[in-house]
Amino acid sequence: MSNTILVGAQWGDEGKGKIIDFLTEKADLVVRSQGGNNAGHTVLVGGKKYVLHLIPSGILRAGKMCVIGNGVVIDPIAVAAEIDGLRGQKIKVTPKNLMISDCAHVVFPYHRLLDEQREATKGKGKIGTTKRGIGPAYGDKAARVGVRMGELVQPEIFEAKLAARIKENNAVLKVFGAKGLKAGEVLAQYRLAAEQLAPFVANTVVYLHGAMQAGKSILFEGAQGTFLDIDHGTYPFVTSSNTTAGGACTGSGVPPHRMDTVIGVMKAYTTRVGEGPFPTEDAGLSDFLHGLGREFGATTGRARRCGWFDAVATRYAGMINGIDEIAVTNLDGLDTLETVRVCTAYRLGRKTLEVPPSDVRQLAACVPVYEEHAGWQTPTDEARTWQDLPAKARTYLERIAQLSGGRLSIASVGPNREQTIVV
Ligand code: IMP
Ligand code: MG
Repeated sequence: MSNTILVGAQWGDEGKGKIIDFLTEKADLVVRSQGGNNAGHTVLVGGKKYVLHLIPSGILRAGKMCVIGNGVVIDPIAVAAEIDGLRGQKIKVTPKNLMISDCAHVVFPYHRLLDEQREATKGKGKIGTTKRGIGPAYGDKAARVGVRMGELVQPEIFEAKLAARIKENNAVLKVFGAKGLKAGEVLAQYRLAAEQLAPFVANTVVYLHGAMQAGKSILFEGAQGTFLDIDHGTYPFVTSSNTTAGGACTGSGVPPHRMDTVIGVMKAYTTRVGEGPFPTEDAGLSDFLHGLGREFGATTGRARRCGWFDAVATRYAGMINGIDEIAVTNLDGLDTLETVRVCTAYRLGRKTLEVPPSDVRQLAACVPVYEEHAGWQTPTDEARTWQDLPAKARTYLERIAQLSGGRLSIASVGPNREQTIVV
């Protein structure tokens, strides 16, 4: 038995869905432990495209158990729709391969409305959230006024709680000048979803411990990335959960000493959606990648901001997550470039920094120090082994892994399952 945590080492969208799908072959269970349907994992299998938001990517492989842990926030309408969508694509989803924690918190329409209102009020200083209500839902959880999945599926308890929550939130929405919600309408919608989801809701902590006792292997599927972590990210331009390795423990009830390996996923360059500092951002590289039809968000369709590989960031991600192994994705995106740049340090005034400053204003003032690599200018998308890769691409991969401080174990050269090189 061995348990693996997979995290994003950048700002999310590192291509985790594909790597998770690949690693799932060796795991018995796949667990989501944080985030909500702000996440979007795109997986291509046999030319068919699947976009997952809340359900672990493991659902695409027969015989794998998927668990949505206590640390996740769940929009029941969205997850019910996701289940229907998967079934429409001929993927089996039953309580035999999907379990939802009774302690996971529920996302309500007032969370989404508040998310929108707060963003609108911030104007230019907005975070650029996915407007899925993630921040307000985690806010309610921390403020101890949240509703959990275990309550959603108990009609009497749920109805009373919802009525009280809507009353309070309507008053708050009024302060923003926004229209309130009708309790009856929300209740009717949520009741339907609750009925559909009830068979999936259980104590997942007990289930996971039983599975471990039986010698099963667990893969923890991280959502978002290290620099969107509520504690370690570029606060306040972050999401509202712990996206780093520790979140896999708190968000699932599996203790730290049962974790064996941490895999950090990183793109061969860097991207970010939403606002906030991004030292290696490069307009030319953004235009180039968008021109290739790459780097548009799976959840919101937004064009992602793009920049060069930032080893200052990934080195820090290595520290926080304890990254043992590195999976580099999207190598093929750089195939035609003449030169490729890697940021090895930041300059902040007269200082040279090896790790990012925690203050967001200082980070915004950092100027990257680059080293340049000759591009390989050869297509890599058909490479299937390390030896198939051009020598310059191998040098580049080895260099970014060395700078990040982990062992390169996977290189991905395209969205398909087969386009994965085990190093
Ligand atoms: P929220 O999670 O919707 O509150 O958004 C907060 C920040 O995290 C925004 O910059 C989002 O663009 C970003 N974000 C949230 N989920 C993802 C994701 O799955 N990939 C990339 N960025 C994300
Ligand atoms: Mg994504």
